[in-house]
Amino acid sequence: MSEARVPRVAVLGAGGFLGSHLVPALLQRFSCEIDAVDVNLSKLECHDARVQRIEARVEEPGLVEQVTSRCQTVISLTALCNPAQYSTIPLEVIDASFTHLLPLVTRCAERKVRLIHFSTAEVYGRTALDAQGHPTERMHEDESCLMLGPVSRERWTYACAKQLLERVIWAHGQHGALPFTIIRPFNTIGPRMDFLPGIDGDGTPRVLACFMNALLRGEPLPLVGGGAQRRAFMDVSDMNEAVCRVLERPKQADGQIFNLGNPDNDVSIAELGRLMAGAFAELWPAHAAAKFQAVSAEDFYGPGYDDTQERIPDVRKAQQLLGWKPQRRLADALPAIVRDYGERYGARIEAARKAPCRLASA
Ligand code: UGA
Repeated sequence: MSEARVPRVAVLGAGGFLGSHLVPALLQRFSCEIDAVDVNLSKLECHDARVQRIEARVEEPGLVEQVTSRCQTVISLTALCNPAQYSTIPLEVIDASFTHLLPLVTRCAERKVRLIHFSTAEVYGRTALDAQGHPTERMHEDESCLMLGPVSRERWTYACAKQLLERVIWAHGQHGALPFTIIRPFNTIGPRMDFLPGIDGDGTPRVLACFMNALLRGEPLPLVGGGAQRRAFMDVSDMNEAVCRVLERPKQADGQIFNLGNPDNDVSIAELGRLMAGAFAELWPAHAAAKFQAVSAEDFYGPGYDDTQERIPDVRKAQQLLGWKPQRRLADALPAIVRDYGERYGARIEAARKAPCRLASA
């Protein structure tokens, strides 16, 4: 257990993918108490006595008052972060990433509560640019320019809302006394990410859950635009370690923006699919071999979608200031993730498949 003093922490979004992994990791590392806040805490499979489970929305009256009056640190993770939502429910996306969080930032600034805010790699937009506007391979926190698409490309609604909140937080830190750290996660993956459509959610989740859904149902894995676009995937255990170090090192982390991702796990989406299909076949050889199907972005997401072809983080700052380096290779991480999805959802998918079709009643 760490020597660092971390008395009481509020984790907003503790029932989401990252939050449900982070809470147990914090308990293991620190002798802290945690206010675990989410509208739904069912993914938080942790019943430690040091955790107070609070089922509430962040925008609910009184919630911000409650957590900022008794916690010394707030970790804010809440957002609607699936690209399919940006062009279908953009106003909800803006509220969840900006409007609903403004009172939290203001109150943290007034009370000097340390705010560790999760922003997103999406703020870099389509591609990272240097100061002259030339594309660069890696995205750097303090140097890259940010390039979103036209307003009609609603894909960038989320990035824009997230970027504006980053600027509000930054201004409170520069011109006030808010102790803050902004984290930009790059495609973090692990068990319990998102949902499987028709089983525990509706709509289109992010690519890992889309591919698991297809594998478990024996359907082709959809490759949007053919799947040549690339992402650098990071295992959630590396994210937990980085956040613990941010907590342990306030002097180094305060006032900083950190990319947290794994540049060594940069693969095309088609390659991710092949790796997942390989891990799946090893675990369940009796299943039919995976198939792939190219789909257009318009057919898959509808109008307003746009994409980034490559998203590689420069993580030298986190390495220098936090002494952190992501460890887990994608090929090593995927089998355990694929197994968890299979064990969690396999029987439910089978039951849904066998259930008689319900006929629509007049
Ligand atoms: C999303 C969020 O918008 C980011 O804010 C966030 O940082 C990121 O996830 C994350 O997980 O950290 P993105 O990487 O575009 O960004 O999200 P995915 O939905 O996972 O899509 C990755 C790529 O796979 C996209 O090019 C998408 O078109 C493609 N895809 C997705 C497929 O080819 N097939 C699918 O079934 C689903």
